[in-house]
Amino acid sequence: YEAKIDVADMDKGTYEHYMLKEVDEQPAVMRRLVQEYTNEKGELVVDEAITSRIQKADRIYIVACGTSWHAGLVGKQLIEKVAEIPVEVHVASEFAYNMPLISKNPFFIFISQSGETADSRQVLVRVNELGYESMTMTNVPGSTLSREANHTMLLHAGPEIAVASTKAYTAQIATLAILAKATGMVKGTAVAKEFNLVKELSLVATGMERLVGEKEHISDLVKANLETTRNAFYIGRGMDYFVSMEAALKLKEISYIQAEGFAAGELKHGTIALIEEGTPVIGIITDEVMGSHTRGNLKEVESRGAATVVVSMEGFEKEGDHIVLPHVHELLTPLVSVVPIQLIAYYASLHRGLDVDKPRNLAKSVTVE
Ligand code: G6P
Repeated sequence: YEAKIDVADMDKGTYEHYMLKEVDEQPAVMRRLVQEYTNEKGELVVDEAITSRIQKADRIYIVACGTSWHAGLVGKQLIEKVAEIPVEVHVASEFAYNMPLISKNPFFIFISQSGETADSRQVLVRVNELGYESMTMTNVPGSTLSREANHTMLLHAGPEIAVASTKAYTAQIATLAILAKATGMVKGTAVAKEFNLVKELSLVATGMERLVGEKEHISDLVKANLETTRNAFYIGRGMDYFVSMEAALKLKEISYIQAEGFAAGELKHGTIALIEEGTPVIGIITDEVMGSHTRGNLKEVESRGAATVVVSMEGFEKEGDHIVLPHVHELLTPLVSVVPIQLIAYYASLHRGLDVDKPRNLAKSVTVE
């Protein structure tokens, strides 16, 4: 691979922070990914050496850290539903020392924005010793994890400078969707044939564009609900649960608000004890059936004093919801629901006068175990 770093990408331009610039770049990254993975016939294609190998795997193991791990959780849904191959998703630092029983014909996918994370590399070294085949999904061509795995899929997100990962997360999910679709096509699954990913990703890009235009509204919401709070909760089910985990991480990283992302139904089994007068609970709803249950959970916390904020998707919204997301395909909802969540973290950090791009105690790439 050839490193394609555009110096213009490293420049903040008129932006006060890299994070905001990178949030705004996401629609362009979605379009670039479609271009990079499309053939002359307009079909999404992935290196045949990858798809032909993966379609034979009896199980896929995704290994990653932090935000990349959260993207992996969404990737499991995509690959299982579209390519019909069972997937396990593991935190690298745990996998390294507590390796699960491995199936007969596994394939490993390492997800890493930097391609340099020591925890993930530790697992890759072991996987290579054991002779298993692997792929790294990374934003950095020629990175350690890319060189040491058998295959690479690039994220084409352009350099990500802010410590809090944004466009790499959405690029990871879109790339996982492309992989799921391409593998499903090789396998001939019915879902893959019906999944018009080129069209759906273009709808996602348009939807993202609308959401990044709602900065003022989101900034006001943060002022009203998160300006002084010490803690906050994000809740959701299914895909919305995975985005809740990423939402909480984003908020913790740059605003230092203690936050937790919860499976909406699980909150009542203990953690609800933490809800006090004014505790912010943000519910994410992108599915009708699961959403109606999440709304029930929001009522439960509201009656205990929580200040609830609802982020819902067009088609499933109710009057009074705070942020309404453009409607996208059910397997791609994290690509749009995460955008206001990134902006909530951004404004929470900004309004508190914190260092948005370089939060305390964190590094962009962690090369120690
Ligand atoms: C660090 C960063 C996180 C990132 C994680 C994994 O902890 O602060 O934002 O998600 O590493 O990084 P990677 O480059 O492997 O995706």
